[in-house]
Amino acid sequence: MKKKGYFISFEGIDGSGKSTQIQKLAKFLKNLGFDVITTREPGGSKGGEEIRNLLLQGNVDRWSAKTEILLFTAARCDHLERIILPALEEGKIVICDRFTDSTRMYQGMRGANLRNLVDTLNEKVVNFDPDLTIIIDINPEISLKRAKSRKIAEERFEDFGVDLQMKMRKGFIELAKEFDNRIEVFDGQQSVDKLAKDICSLVKAKLS
Ligand code: ADP
Ligand code: TYD
Repeated sequence: MKKKGYFISFEGIDGSGKSTQIQKLAKFLKNLGFDVITTREPGGSKGGEEIRNLLLQGNVDRWSAKTEILLFTAARCDHLERIILPALEEGKIVICDRFTDSTRMYQGMRGANLRNLVDTLNEKVVNFDPDLTIIIDINPEISLKRAKSRKIAEERFEDFGVDLQMKMRKGFIELAKEFDNRIEVFDGQQSVDKLAKDICSLVKAKLS
């Protein structure tokens, strides 16, 4: 399928400020006259949201990392086929809260060869990258406090604790080097408005 729109993903550890910045960016782009949809992973489509409930609720050890890779990839496949690709085909800007990079980090870093499994499966069934990925980098001590203040049932991954979040923070920075053609890193410890200003000007420049 030939793509006409523009696909942006947001990445970072839990509570880094992705949802907040996605709302700001969507509003900014709509004001510029772009047709924008915001979506999220896991989820985004009906089937994807059903898989989300399986993944994000329950005990930390409910699934092995390997099984999670299969479930996240299945959710992504449905989301891509039913929501993301049709919107891009209509020329829309799609802003997605997390995509394959999250699986590379959250599942891929939990054991030997798991990153390899994420990449292999991704290549076979997803095989689609964002045009631009924005990583919000933040100290986990700060972001976990923010995330915990939300008090929702979906806290399975937050329960993995600060050490894993610390490892993932480093992992996301490494990923930005690995995919430097599409990933940009921003400091999540700035004020909401300052961060939004920086992100919006980068995206505006990329689109023009
Ligand atoms: P994420 O989607 O990455 O989990 P959120 O955007 O939901 O993060 O932010 C988590 C919490 O932190 C929310 O309560 C939000 O209002 C707050 N927050 C977001 N960005 C900032 C910021 N730059 N400074 C302080 N608090 C923030
Ligand atoms: P999200 O709703 O973005 O949580 P938060 O707002 O706290 O950042 O994502 C839900 C959780 O799912 C989050 O802890 C990260 C995890 N996750 C994975 O482990 N692998 C994945 O591939 C994705 C997309 C998310």
